[in-house]
Amino acid sequence: MSTVIRTMLQTDTPPATELFLERYRQRRSRNPLYPPTLVSDDAVRPLISEWLSTGHGVVAEQNGGMIGYLLGRETTGLGGIKMSFTPEWAHATKVGSSKDLTGDLYTKWCRINDRPESTLHMTMVFADDVSAHDCFVQKGFGRHLIDGGRVVNGFEPGASKVEISRPAVAELDQVNDLDSRLTAHLDQAPIYRPSSPESFGRFSGGHTYDRSWITESTKGIWVTREGDAITGFMSAEYGPQRPRSLKHPLLPHIEGAFLAPSSRGTGAANALLDGVLGWVSETGSRYCTVDFETSNPEGSSFWLRNDFEPLVFTMTRRLDTRYAS
Ligand SMILES: CC(C)(COP(=O)(O)OP(=O)(O)OC[C@H]1O[C@@H](n2cnc3c(N)ncnc32)[C@H](O)[C@@H]1OP(=O)(O)O)[C@@H](O)C(=O)NCCC(=O)NCCS
Repeated sequence: MSTVIRTMLQTDTPPATELFLERYRQRRSRNPLYPPTLVSDDAVRPLISEWLSTGHGVVAEQNGGMIGYLLGRETTGLGGIKMSFTPEWAHATKVGSSKDLTGDLYTKWCRINDRPESTLHMTMVFADDVSAHDCFVQKGFGRHLIDGGRVVNGFEPGASKVEISRPAVAELDQVNDLDSRLTAHLDQAPIYRPSSPESFGRFSGGHTYDRSWITESTKGIWVTREGDAITGFMSAEYGPQRPRSLKHPLLPHIEGAFLAPSSRGTGAANALLDGVLGWVSETGSRYCTVDFETSNPEGSSFWLRNDFEPLVFTMTRRLDTRYAS
């Protein structure tokens, strides 16, 4: 059966939505960490339609039926960098279609534009969509960020000997000092994270922990100490599940984690995580989320070792400006 790939029109939005929903409902029935927000036509159709109205897209058809779509548009992110962006609901292929289909859609999408609209292509891929992930790798994309989550059902704290506590208001300066060191860690080799505007969200530079982090029940900080000095912290807050394109209103999200180097490898990080997960449980959530740069050796290995599973990969491909301009 021959596959035809052509330009996407607004009239393609309903079948594209249907294709996405079929995959997503299946995904969610297997893994409840995927939010219940992208399961209806009402939720997904406007997303696709709006993205297409300011971008461009392609669809793949077989025997007149849609078997895949992909759309992207120019936007800004990653600290204001201009990019061509395809969110996770802006591409899908039918179950059972060729494992190369996402790559073929991306190729056609690039060709339709002829000249690239930006030198950074970014796409989000559901972690269970292995063939889409592999197609993007084949086309030159690499993993940049992981949005992950874990179930916190019936949480039992580990047997850590390291004591944790909550900071007092007078100690917030110390927490903010550690947070600046976290920012420095993320700015340096090998992560080289571009400093992000506040709106972009994650671990944004100069995060200030004010007294609301102590007084409000929707957020919290846990710390380790040595004498009077705070040696590490982990913080979490209820907010929209990340990436925000998942449209899930509120879930506890780990905002920051940093241990002074001398406190690493002591069990302190797990004691802090126990504090966070205990609070997640007490406050009635079954899930906890976190995001991290794949190039952060300490962060990525810690979360993956502690049962946070990847839900969405943010992948990027940089075009050499000499070719693209
Ligand atoms: C992320 C971070 C908080 C994790 O803390 P950590 O102490 O490094 O992580 P772990 O508790 O897993 O310990 C690291 C090692 O010590 C070992 N260890 C843990 N507890 C131990 C204990 N009680 N006794 C001996 N060894 C222990 C771990 O098994 C691990 O060993 P491995 O690397 O050989 O597997 C810390 O590395 C950090 O602050 N990094 C910089 C900031 C950062 O990246 N933050 C995360 C942003 S996403």
